[in-house]
Amino acid sequence: MEESKKFYITTPIYYPSDNLHIGHTYSTVQADAISRYKRMRGYDTFFLTGTDEHGQKIEDKAKAAGVTPKEYVDKIVAGIKDLWKLMNISNDKFIRTTDEYHEKAVQYIFQKMYDKGDIYLGSYEGLYCKPCESFWTETQAVDGKCPDCGRPVIKASEQAYFFRLSKYADRLLEYYDSHPDFFAPSMRQAEMVNNFIKPGLQDLCISRSTFKWGIPVPINPDHVIYVWLDALTNYITALGYASEDDSLFKKFWPADVHLIGKDITRFHTIYWPAFLMSLDLPLPEKVYCHGWVLLDGGKMSKSKGNVVDPVKLADRYGVDPLRYYLLREVAFGADGIFSNENLINRINSDLANDLGNLVSRTVAMVDKYFGGTIPEQRESGEFDDDLKAVAAEAKINAEKYLDSLNFSESLASIWKFISRTNKYIDETAPWALAKDESNRARLAQVMYNLCESIRIISVFIAPFLPETSSKIRAQLGLGEATDWEECGVFGKEETFSVVKGEIIFPRLDLEKELEELASLNKAAENPLKAEIEGVAKIGIDDFAKVDLRAAEITGCVPVKKAKKLLELTLNDGTGEPRTVASGIALYYKPEDLIGKKVILVSNLKPATLCGVESKGMILAADSSDGVKVIFVDGVEPGTKIR
Ligand code: ME8
Ligand code: MG
Repeated sequence: MEESKKFYITTPIYYPSDNLHIGHTYSTVQADAISRYKRMRGYDTFFLTGTDEHGQKIEDKAKAAGVTPKEYVDKIVAGIKDLWKLMNISNDKFIRTTDEYHEKAVQYIFQKMYDKGDIYLGSYEGLYCKPCESFWTETQAVDGKCPDCGRPVIKASEQAYFFRLSKYADRLLEYYDSHPDFFAPSMRQAEMVNNFIKPGLQDLCISRSTFKWGIPVPINPDHVIYVWLDALTNYITALGYASEDDSLFKKFWPADVHLIGKDITRFHTIYWPAFLMSLDLPLPEKVYCHGWVLLDGGKMSKSKGNVVDPVKLADRYGVDPLRYYLLREVAFGADGIFSNENLINRINSDLANDLGNLVSRTVAMVDKYFGGTIPEQRESGEFDDDLKAVAAEAKINAEKYLDSLNFSESLASIWKFISRTNKYIDETAPWALAKDESNRARLAQVMYNLCESIRIISVFIAPFLPETSSKIRAQLGLGEATDWEECGVFGKEETFSVVKGEIIFPRLDLEKELEELASLNKAAENPLKAEIEGVAKIGIDDFAKVDLRAAEITGCVPVKKAKKLLELTLNDGTGEPRTVASGIALYYKPEDLIGKKVILVSNLKPATLCGVESKGMILAADSSDGVKVIFVDGVEPGTKIR
């Protein structure tokens, strides 16, 4: 292990306003892979993610849903936390901007900037994009549309607090020039300088008075702190900045990487450094701006035909295949196109064929030829050295690319070694060696080299595919991979005793999967329709077996032993009273029911419910605000209903 160093990485904090799709998952999975890698290299790692919960959009949505903003976000945030758990995200902390310590620290930050003279009260006129919560100048807006999302902007003006961003332009340029690694990919630097700094930085509006859902401005409670000062500061408040215990802040700040999507580059490389300068704090080492996961011809939100819900995809294919797909398919800093077909093809070729087969073939051969344990007597031969050389090369490249956050090239380097190992099986032809007892030592060496290669692969893939790494190692009789350097030693284990396991990546039938995914997608678009279509069809004969009759409620008493039950007495037209127990006590009082006519299922076999012998049941609807009995009018008791 290298000397102990710290590593602090953050993801964006997500808006709990839209459903998270695989594009959001992409940000978090990348941060997870690099965190796992750094931990395996002995870094004291802190990985932060969370949610960005204030703003007008949330306030509006909560109002529409008839709940408080906090109630509204609580529910969604719980779902986001579940998603990260499902995706095996190993974050050390989850920050919510509604957490009390964050709100306090943000007020402290506002006050500190104000006392310094970096904040003043002014009036804002501009073009406002409500969905993005961004103000734009005439020159920034494109044909009256928001340059970020393309939706129309509106003219708006209000009294507001401003941060003196303009004051920091020179210091920002200086910082960029003296820190060539600050921007990743480096092309983002020119984009920020040419589009935003050279044309002249304008002071930044950091408060709003037209809505309430935000952190109050400490010196003026009519205003709330406007979204970016509240959001960006999460990276330090999460570490306890401006709190009683700031030991994590002292240990981990500055961040080693802020990992973000390219749409929020400006906020992270201009606003955020300027805020930090104002606070006299060190600046982050690197801002990595990844590309977008797009659908053929458009953004995720306009999904047509492709399933973009990570929970559905992970449920169907497993978490690691989805992680693999995202990390492999999207090139460094560029956009990637998601399609169901690409996903299935990647799973089949890279995971089922290349990796899964290698493991199952090898384990099966060790089992078949040596009863599961490779003998100590071995003999080196042709191809062995080349196999080792390719392993060493894979380590160099996997590290080089991972250190520069290039996940897809790092995986490609690892897969080169996987292919080389598969080729080694063809070259050494173990099935031929097994035919002759005199080749036993050579066969043992071949099997050993294969197991060692797979062990090395299990270390390589551990940051990317943690579950798969564990499954593979279990088949080799090994525990979890914890030390990255173990992928650099060929010959670490003395021998292997294999344990046959399940097929790690079953091969998928492309046609069938595309059909299944299409119907999943339909279900997402119209869940009720899908539910109704999903109910098994019955014939008219089946329906005719149910005897439905009109009946009048003549008596009704609560059932002592059951809070939910009412005991009804019905006139079913026969002249003999009939007793039916019904689970409607929470919704109806006896006096509401007596004299009403209902629909009785008369041929239901009798059953005893909490001491009441019930002969049949009455029909009711499970509506969203409780159970509703179906009442009928103008029909004599005993009349057949069909
Ligand atoms: O921007 N492909 O939150 P957010 C790749 N709260 N990445 C995508 C994507 C896609 N299709 N769609 C979204 C915010 N993202 C702010 C951040 S940070 C202090 C505050 C990425 O929920 C997007 O680029 O709208 C961003 O990095 C992240 O998801 C969160 O987006
Ligand atoms: Mg966004």
